[in-house]
Amino acid sequence: MILVTGGAGFIGSNFVLDWLAQSDEPVLILDALTYAGNVHNLRSLEGDNRYVFVHGNIGDAALVADLLSRHRPRAIVNFAAESHVDRSIHGPEDFIQTNILGTFRLLEVARAYWNELQDKAAFRFVHVSTDEVFGTLGSEDPAFHEETRYQPNSPYSASKAASDHLVRAYHHTYGLPTLTTNCSNNYGPFHFPEKLIPLVIHNALRGQQLPLYGDGQQIRDWLYVKDHCSALRRILDAGQAGETYNIGGANERTNLDVVTTLCDILDEFSPRADSKSYRDQIAFVKDRPGHDRRYAIDARKIETDLGWRPAETFESGIRKTVRWYLDNSEWVQNVTSGGYRIWLEKQYA
Ligand code: NAD
Ligand code: TYD
Repeated sequence: MILVTGGAGFIGSNFVLDWLAQSDEPVLILDALTYAGNVHNLRSLEGDNRYVFVHGNIGDAALVADLLSRHRPRAIVNFAAESHVDRSIHGPEDFIQTNILGTFRLLEVARAYWNELQDKAAFRFVHVSTDEVFGTLGSEDPAFHEETRYQPNSPYSASKAASDHLVRAYHHTYGLPTLTTNCSNNYGPFHFPEKLIPLVIHNALRGQQLPLYGDGQQIRDWLYVKDHCSALRRILDAGQAGETYNIGGANERTNLDVVTTLCDILDEFSPRADSKSYRDQIAFVKDRPGHDRRYAIDARKIETDLGWRPAETFESGIRKTVRWYLDNSEWVQNVTSGGYRIWLEKQYA
């Protein structure tokens, strides 16, 4: 069995679904079900006795210790986090609580459990982190590699950086077999519509504006979520304890390019009633404070050492994603509840 924290969120739920599609090894999911967590993401698993869902917090040491001693997982994959940069700007407290203190508590409990294991070397603690810890790049800078200096710029990335450092220290000091991954921006099914790609699809279909921060020329390196999941499975299988791995798709795109691409696919799949392009809904709005200009990942290490490569290009992955949102309007309706509308009013006032 493996323990997956944050398994009801965007990437965590994709990871669990893909895992159980390819393996019979059971999964124990621990998720606090914040606004970003949604048990409906796992609905296709109903009645499947290979998974156990526990509603709880990674910072609840007594709960996690009890779960570990009862279920005896061979690995922990830690997705649980507060993950939205804009929310971290409005209110960093939750990010400090979950990403720093929560990870610390999880590491402490994992260490105590691991200390009692017969086969210590076989255990794995995989910590899922982000490329945002490296800060921002200029247009001519080489992509982030594993040795790039940490220079986080937002409360979100600073809290993730702190958690990465704790994970590193638990390996260095105590020998806990940890692996840390730094992945670029993901997109795909079950992505909460506060993030750029699902927000734009959602707003476009409702005739609302498609907000681009500043000049829209910021660059992100996009990876289809299922490729991130396959990289994590590979790392769990064959990664070296104590190592960090960058994960990315070599798909650098400006935000303007991403949004116009989405508009063009929607024009094809679900044309507007007035036959005009969704591009007409694009609006340039106030920039995000401290907005990082460019992220890019050098993923040569995972490719060379572990033979991982993404299966999707941006063109193929983004079409699948738009199709998924069109086919799953009920899911979107469920997650865009009252709390969601309050967030939009605050953020785009
Ligand atoms: P998400 O916000 O969609 O999901 C986070 C999940 O964690 C939710 O289900 C939430 O309920 C749960 N959670 C939050 N606090 C918790 C706590 N204290 N205890 C237990 N569960 C808690 O995030 P995501 O996009 O799926 O990201 C997952 C991980 O991957 C995060 O650690 C994030 O930093 C990292 N990451 C994300 C991206 C991306 O593009 N989304 C890229 C690289 C890395
Ligand atoms: P986001 O999806 O929030 O991911 P991150 O900030 O973690 O990279 O944003 C992706 C990019 O899109 C980022 O440069 C901010 C920008 N953006 C907009 O231009 N408009 C929006 O409404 C949102 C949510 C993001």
